[in-house]
Amino acid sequence: MTDSAPRIRPRRLRTTPAMRRLVAETRLSAAELVLPVFIREGISEPVPIGSMPGVVNHSLDSIRRAATEAAEAGIGGLMLFGVPEHKDAVGSGATDENGILNVATRVVIEEVGDALVVQTDLCLDEFTDHGHCGVLDSRGYVDNDASLERYRDMALAQANAGSHLLGLSGMMDGQVAAVRSVLDDNDFGNTAILGYAAKYASAFYGPFREAVASSLVGDRRTYQLDTGNRREGLREVMLDVDEGADVVMVKPAMSFLDVLADAAAISPVPVWAYQVSGEYSMIEAAAAHGWIDRRRAVEESVLSIKRAGADAILTYWAVELAGWLRS
Ligand code: PBG
Repeated sequence: MTDSAPRIRPRRLRTTPAMRRLVAETRLSAAELVLPVFIREGISEPVPIGSMPGVVNHSLDSIRRAATEAAEAGIGGLMLFGVPEHKDAVGSGATDENGILNVATRVVIEEVGDALVVQTDLCLDEFTDHGHCGVLDSRGYVDNDASLERYRDMALAQANAGSHLLGLSGMMDGQVAAVRSVLDDNDFGNTAILGYAAKYASAFYGPFREAVASSLVGDRRTYQLDTGNRREGLREVMLDVDEGADVVMVKPAMSFLDVLADAAAISPVPVWAYQVSGEYSMIEAAAAHGWIDRRRAVEESVLSIKRAGADAILTYWAVELAGWLRS
């Protein structure tokens, strides 16, 4: 051995697949994956979403099969989104017990309620004709406190339908505290809250807006976080924890891994991340062109989110990934 030869050789730990497996620092498991699903009112067959190849709008029939398949795959849960036929200024469908999301929740709970954590999106944007996450004041500004009143009603409707975990994604100030108090006052002390604490005004929600037939004109910048703000993301996380969130979320995932790592370092409650529609579609599109290896890109993307500190991950690949993890 010459003097200039390296004495320290990290490559020893990479020599064989068995060695690499043994020293792996980050592992994924099906139990920490959550599948977002869309249920659309008034359809009898699943309808493909053009901007999200492989993802569909479910009918009430097809969601039963999808939920069973998810339970069999061993994933941790489902996050339900409703796509109503009719929208109005206050998002009436969100609080109607016969509204599509509440009906779908009952169906899914009946089908897989013991095997999966059934979660519901608690936000008005799918139900409002203007597409905003809250109600508007006379000048067209999203009215925070009036929106909280709608969220409180929506929380009761979802808890009544059996939802285990309410996903508060609207980014109104005080939403966690408002929903926690109404749940506790109505005997829903065991209904948990997932606070979308650090949710950024991201371009990567684009395909989702097609998925839920969003009527939004403009953007959500008066309530979602500016994409450059790291400290403010952490502030939102701390506020949600103080208000009683059982779990907090960082969203999107891949462009906010620093915020995720910050949150994971300080949060006393689980920190989840949402790998959003644009993150999904970007990889699917590149793979469809043959520009990247689809499976490896999917695995690497989800692994990176776990490595940054996510305790669980919402991803449209949850069931497929669970299948790969088994094999
Ligand atoms: C709001 C909500 C959005 C997403 C989840 N919940 C859209 C938005 O804030 O514009 C996006 C999810 C995705 O892009 O996959 N109800």
